[in-house]
Amino acid sequence: MPIKKLSNIFPSWYRKWLFNSLNIKDGEECDAKYLDPLFKLNKNWLRENYQQKEYSWDEKDVATSYALYYMSINIPKLWMTLNHSGNWRQQELPQVNSLVEFGCGPGTFLWSYLLYLYSEHPTQLAEIKKIRGVDTSQTNLDIALQLFNGLKSKKEFAHIEIELTCSNWQNELSNSDEELCIFGNSLIESDTELGEVEEKFKNILIIEPGTQKHFQRLKTLRDDMASRDWQIHFPCSGGLHCPMPSDNWCHFHVNRFMLPFVQKMSNAAKRRNHRHNFCAFLYSRRTNGLDNTNWRLLSKTRKVKRTAMRYICNGDRMFEAVLGRKERSPDNLDFIHLEAAEMARTTAKFKKGRLSVNDSFSHNNTQQNGIK
Ligand SMILES: C[S@@+](CC[C@H](N)C(=O)[O-])C[C@H]1O[C@@H](n2cnc3c(N)ncnc32)[C@H](O)[C@@H]1O
Repeated sequence: MPIKKLSNIFPSWYRKWLFNSLNIKDGEECDAKYLDPLFKLNKNWLRENYQQKEYSWDEKDVATSYALYYMSINIPKLWMTLNHSGNWRQQELPQVNSLVEFGCGPGTFLWSYLLYLYSEHPTQLAEIKKIRGVDTSQTNLDIALQLFNGLKSKKEFAHIEIELTCSNWQNELSNSDEELCIFGNSLIESDTELGEVEEKFKNILIIEPGTQKHFQRLKTLRDDMASRDWQIHFPCSGGLHCPMPSDNWCHFHVNRFMLPFVQKMSNAAKRRNHRHNFCAFLYSRRTNGLDNTNWRLLSKTRKVKRTAMRYICNGDRMFEAVLGRKERSPDNLDFIHLEAAEMARTTAKFKKGRLSVNDSFSHNNTQQNGIK
């Protein structure tokens, strides 16, 4: 399958769909009306006890800016997670014909999932019957409906039904019968004890801000879920107890400048950092088919005097592994060249954290779907 760049994930009509649905004209995306609340809000929403109502902007402008900017940046995170979730994508995804997003805001991960199918699994898109979004903000749900109506006018999405409910997601569990449940940047505002969610769903995808503090909460949940026989398809290959120390955190990043209008907005707000970090966990009851010879690449390659180093984890051990110049061989060069978030398989025992010249280290092809 040809390699598809993650930067090509947005359909050609994405911008038009978004701007038309939000009633924004070209160039208006950089109006102070949208930029001011967006970037001032961002400084605050990762704070403990953040309450949107404490901020005085027009709620509709805040929600519109969020949909323009953060929704667009968040969409690739789901793609990156699913692209690297091997067995799940091959075996569970074909069973998913309904999904719900709790704390959906403008519907970010509902669209993200549908756009993923549109591009990568169009026959599965035809199987999607119903999507549901739950949020406590009616303003966000109104925007979600506008976006949905725009999608629905395209023939590939015309058969899909939507239900948007203004409520606490905790109150909506009894109505849940979807195949896939998504939390996107919403557990930060809720207890991470999922309780009944674990009884209701077979597949749970969690995509949250990539901060050290928030990861520690997700790690507690991860260990609890692993002890209750949940399988992790991303990022861990196994392990009952996450080995990540408390002063570090398992996170990945997408390039926030994939779309020119997002870059324009960032420039206008003098936000030059292209990295947008996130943490993600994909759970199901199905085996992930991986053993502890499979390692997730957690960081990009760091080179010091022709020695390559990168953080790797197999769910039991996490450390910065080292490949020295003299230990390089054709069989272990993937250690240098693979991208962060990819899964590799190795014969190495990593004595003192090092690969030896006889160790193989290569991309785990069962995790490959041709997208980087
Ligand atoms: C940061 S936004 C995330 C929106 C979207 N999921 C995304 O990732 O782009 C968090 C959303 O969660 C909603 N939210 C917070 N607590 C909630 C709860 N208990 N039940 C439902 N929605 C909630 C907020 O109203 C907000 O729209």
